[in-house]
Amino acid sequence: MKELIKNLTEIWGPSGREDLVCEFIKTEIAELVDDVRVDVMGNLIAHKAGAPGAPRIMLAGHMDEIGFMVSYIDEKGFLRFSTVGGIRPYVLVGERVVFADGLVGILGVEKTDKPEDVLKMDKIYIDIGAIDKADAESKVQIGDMATYQRPFVDQGQRLIANNFDDRIGCAILMQVIKEMTACPNEVYFVFTVQEEVGLRGSRTSAYGIDPDMGIAVDVCGSGDTPEPYLMPMALGKGAAIKIKDNSLLVSPRVRELLVETAKAHDIPYQLEILPFGGTDAGAMQMTRAGVLAGCISVPSRHVHTPSEMVDYGDVRACVDLLVKLLESPIAL
Ligand code: CO
Ligand code: ZN
Repeated sequence: MKELIKNLTEIWGPSGREDLVCEFIKTEIAELVDDVRVDVMGNLIAHKAGAPGAPRIMLAGHMDEIGFMVSYIDEKGFLRFSTVGGIRPYVLVGERVVFADGLVGILGVEKTDKPEDVLKMDKIYIDIGAIDKADAESKVQIGDMATYQRPFVDQGQRLIANNFDDRIGCAILMQVIKEMTACPNEVYFVFTVQEEVGLRGSRTSAYGIDPDMGIAVDVCGSGDTPEPYLMPMALGKGAAIKIKDNSLLVSPRVRELLVETAKAHDIPYQLEILPFGGTDAGAMQMTRAGVLAGCISVPSRHVHTPSEMVDYGDVRACVDLLVKLLESPIAL
């Protein structure tokens, strides 16, 4: 599965520009599902048919990653940007970003009189090494997007990449499709768009699919680093079963179902309460007249920085939990 994870993290795909990720996933899974389509928003929807009358289960992993959009080109050819998704300025200085065509820019910072001041995003610019404005304009246009540029690293049990949020969720869903040996439920694997800008793809796809239960697969934070937010999640403790984040209170029935499944099959799990952020599950829950919704997360360190770290055992636990859940008829 590590090869799949590596391949997914190396594809360029900020919010709104998920097409290359979509193409890759579609090619890999098309033969393994009953039908696959891309909707008007760009969500990739893969369907595995179940027994007649079986509950409709929607799983969501988002294809997009956070990024930068060129908003202004100055006389010297330096670029200003609008952030796409939640990015904090102090993780940026000296980092590299890459555009769709491979052009690389460096995130530079203006001089500050008081270095102890909190760094503001508008003091940061992208340096593509342009000679002047005309040179820059021959390489980029207003509206072009860039993502962090960092290689995938396999450090044995721990993996590092710039976009495990949420390529790891995409990898988990793809692996579940590959490993499932029975499908008694009606299952929709949805690879969503534009999660990082407000859970937009899951909102529309859930409306169209009208599921009985929705489960998002995403990263969450971890509370196991120096002076962290006080959170119970840690790398290596298993699949995180969400209870709450800023987008939803998980439906008790869904949480119960996931905990019962993990216990029944000796799959390591931990409970998650995330004090920041949201997931596609939040949008699914609020669809139509309401949907039972929950989320399985991979605890990640340094979320939304250029170097996100996850534990491979946790990734496997998420795959195993979903495979076991989906291989039996689900009673809601
Ligand atoms: Co995110
Ligand atoms: Zn995410």
